[in-house]
Order: sequence, then structure tokens, then C-alpha cells
Amino acid sequence: AESATPTKPQQKYPGEKKGFVEEMRFVAMKLHTKDQAKEGEKKSDSPPVAKWDPTIQGFLKFLVNNKVIYDCMEEIVEKAAYPAYAHFRNTGLERSAALAKDLDWLKSQGHEIPAPAEEGTSYAELLKNLSETDPPAFICHFYNVYFAHSAGGRMIGRKVCESVLDGKELEFYKWEGDLQALLSAVKEKLNLVAENWTREEKNHCLEQTELSFKYSGKLLRLIIS
Ligand code: HEM
Repeated sequence: AESATPTKPQQKYPGEKKGFVEEMRFVAMKLHTKDQAKEGEKKSDSPPVAKWDPTIQGFLKFLVNNKVIYDCMEEIVEKAAYPAYAHFRNTGLERSAALAKDLDWLKSQGHEIPAPAEEGTSYAELLKNLSETDPPAFICHFYNVYFAHSAGGRMIGRKVCESVLDGKELEFYKWEGDLQALLSAVKEKLNLVAENWTREEKNHCLEQTELSFKYSGKLLRLIIS
């Protein structure tokens, strides 16, 4: 008699059934270290955030260079070299204007605002090139930049503001309206865009996640520079 329960076949593309964003998320979560997120699998080669000793100068560099990235992202979707990017205009996740306000405020408080550095300009250059030549790769960066900032980035930011700005809440870490609803709406659009991709294009997109972590990781480490 039939007795063995069929084992669940290994999912080839984890998250696939829920949509492509879930696939991107799965790849991203594995690239975290254990101390960063519980789904993380990477070995840590730098101190955990809890041990960070942020400086205001480092944080200013971080903010300035993030502004370079968000300015670039928001220009890319405005320009929409590929029509699909137009879906990502006015999502409510934009950070450029918020960062401009924060930097104005910091300046008014007597802080000297540093010039953008290689960490920001080299990533912006890459984003601009990918956006014009390789939409699946660009979309991977788009997802990771905006979603990482709303997750770990937000948590880190709050801690750093506590420590170097006396708990001042920066606009960078505030969204108008319900953040979860904004994220859901963008997820839906990302899923729709990716529905038009071949499996090869999807894999190519997922493979960009490492590069995204490399560049965003460099930006994050400016905080302790
Ligand atoms: C999600 C921490 C760096 C991309 C998360 C989550 C945590 C976290 C706690 C939330 C998990 C959950 O609630 O489900 C951190 C820490 C980092 C870091 C502590 C560095 C010190 C990065 C980097 C990237 C990234 C460099 C890529 C650029 C993401 C993405 C998600 C995520 C895409 C999923 C967000 C979502 O599901 O909406 N991270 N992260 N993270 N992180 Fe990070």
C-alpha cells in the first residue's frame, strides 16, 4: 500500500509563489549577517551595529552620500529611460526632499555639511548606467535601496540619532502616511514589472543583490568613519 508521504519538492526559486519581490527579499535576507537579522547567513566581518560608535561627522557623510543616491534614483524614475520605471514615480518612499530638509536643518545647527564622496558618487554612477542598459539589474538596486532603508536602515538611524543628535528625529526616517501601505503598493508594482521578465532576467536581477549590499554596506559604514 501507498504509505510514504511524498516529501515536499525543494522550491527552485524560494518565494516564487508569492511573487518576485519575495524572491528578492529571500536573497537579500540571506546576505545579512546573523547579528543583523535573524534570517541572515553571512559571516560577520565588522562590528555589529550594537557596538558601533557613531560620530556626527560620520553620520553627516552618510546622509550627504545617501542624498546623492536618492537624488539619482528619483531622477532615474522621473526620466524613465524604460517606460516601466514610471510606475515608481511618487511612491511616497522618495527620500531626496527629506534629506534636503535634514541637511538644511543640520547646517542651521552649525554643522559643516561635507561634500559627496566616492561612496555616493560611484554608486550613483553605477545606478545611472544600469538604469539605461539593464532594467532587471536596476530594479534590484531600486528594491534594496528603498526597502533596506525602511527596515534595518530605519532602526540603525534611530539609534544613531539617539547617540549623536540627542534623539532628534530626522525627516529621512519619517514617511508621510502609512509606511507599510506605501511599501505594499510598491511591492505590487515591482511584482507586475517582473512578470514580464524571463526566468533568466529574473535570475540576473537576483544576482545583483550582492552588489547592492556591497555599495549600501559602504554607505552604512560611513556612519562610523
Ligand atoms: C530587512 C537589518 C543592511 C536589505 C532587514 C530587517 C532587519 C535588517 C532587522 C528586517 C527583517 C524583518 O523584519 O523581516 C539590517 C542591518 C543592516 C542591514 C542591521 C546593516 C548593519 C542591509 C543592506 C541591505 C539590506 C546593506 C541591502 C542594500 C534589506 C532588505 C530587507 C531587509 C531588502 C527586506 C525588507 C522588507 O522585507 O521589506 N534588514 N540590514 N539590509 N534588509 Fe537589512
